[in-house]
Amino acid sequence: MDINSGQQASDLSAQVGPQANVKVWAIGGGKGGVGKSLVTANVSICLALMGYKVVTIDLDLGGANLHTCLGVPIPEKTLSDYLSKKAKSLKELLTPTPINNLSIISGAQDDVGIANLKHMQKTKILGKLSELDADFVLLDLGAGTTFNTLDFFISADQGILTALPEPTSIENTYRFIKSVYHRKLKMAEDLLEIGPLIDQAMNAKMNQSATPADLINRVIEINPQMGHKLKNEISRFQPKLIINQVRTQADIDIGFSMKIICRKYFGINLDYIGYLEYDATVWQSVKKRRPLLMEFPNSGLVANFDRIVHRLLNN
Ligand SMILES: Nc1ncnc2c1ncn2[C@@H]1O[C@H](COP(=O)(O)OP(=O)(O)O)[C@@H](O)[C@H]1O
Ligand SMILES: [Mg+2]
Repeated sequence: MDINSGQQASDLSAQVGPQANVKVWAIGGGKGGVGKSLVTANVSICLALMGYKVVTIDLDLGGANLHTCLGVPIPEKTLSDYLSKKAKSLKELLTPTPINNLSIISGAQDDVGIANLKHMQKTKILGKLSELDADFVLLDLGAGTTFNTLDFFISADQGILTALPEPTSIENTYRFIKSVYHRKLKMAEDLLEIGPLIDQAMNAKMNQSATPADLINRVIEINPQMGHKLKNEISRFQPKLIINQVRTQADIDIGFSMKIICRKYFGINLDYIGYLEYDATVWQSVKKRRPLLMEFPNSGLVANFDRIVHRLLNN
């Protein structure tokens, strides 16, 4: 069971972790095996090679393997030490990687599981990210849609989704977006104190095919001022999308269709920031336990990652 109730969504808006100059990017969505760790590792490497100071954190608690993508053995200290108070600060958990400017904080190796993080622990981690000596902190969120995962995704400066060009993965991605949407709606509801207004809009006769976007429009009809505030709040949610393991133009185009569907159904702007080709160098580098971008600097994926990182930096 998830110990965090939906009621706690409201205090996130006050807590919103990182401030200062540390930019937090979270990589999540979908099931396992869609390339979240690959993206986290290689986007981190790109940024580090550009001269930024980067800390990458494996929040795939229970299934931590980001270290392998970065070519380091299991770090000695992990988030478990922090959560059990053996380590006093996140700084103590930093493990260097073979890449200059890039360190990793490893996920717990026991079966803590992100769903079992207590609300306080999540808040504590989020609050401490800004104290890290870094330009960028990247979070590998792992799979799933527990409240904790959603909250890390929502609190980040940029939330990045990775999907494969296959029906199950696309469905999972929509499911994730829907969960974040509902979490955002709940937060906005508490923040703007418009719970009754939303209930009223929901109870109004809406036809079977009414979408979340229709709901917001209904709220606007009932109370234009609050409705627009709510719409603004929701429109600040602009997740990024990467389609991984593409083999054809049709695969690439899936990202554009998903963007259109998200706009129509949720009224949100899904930002399709690029694709990654299917490339045998990925498993070859995993097998060698070497970072892909370091082992195969001439692979087609390097150009793919370069484009994605520039899109992210220009946001
Ligand atoms: N673009 C790609 N080309 C070829 N294989 C890939 C690609 N992306 C991911 N893979 C394979 O899929 C596996 C899962 O990727 P990973 O990043 O660990 O997924 P996740 O973190 O989402 O569970 C990797 O071990 C790799 O072998
Ligand atoms: Mg992973």
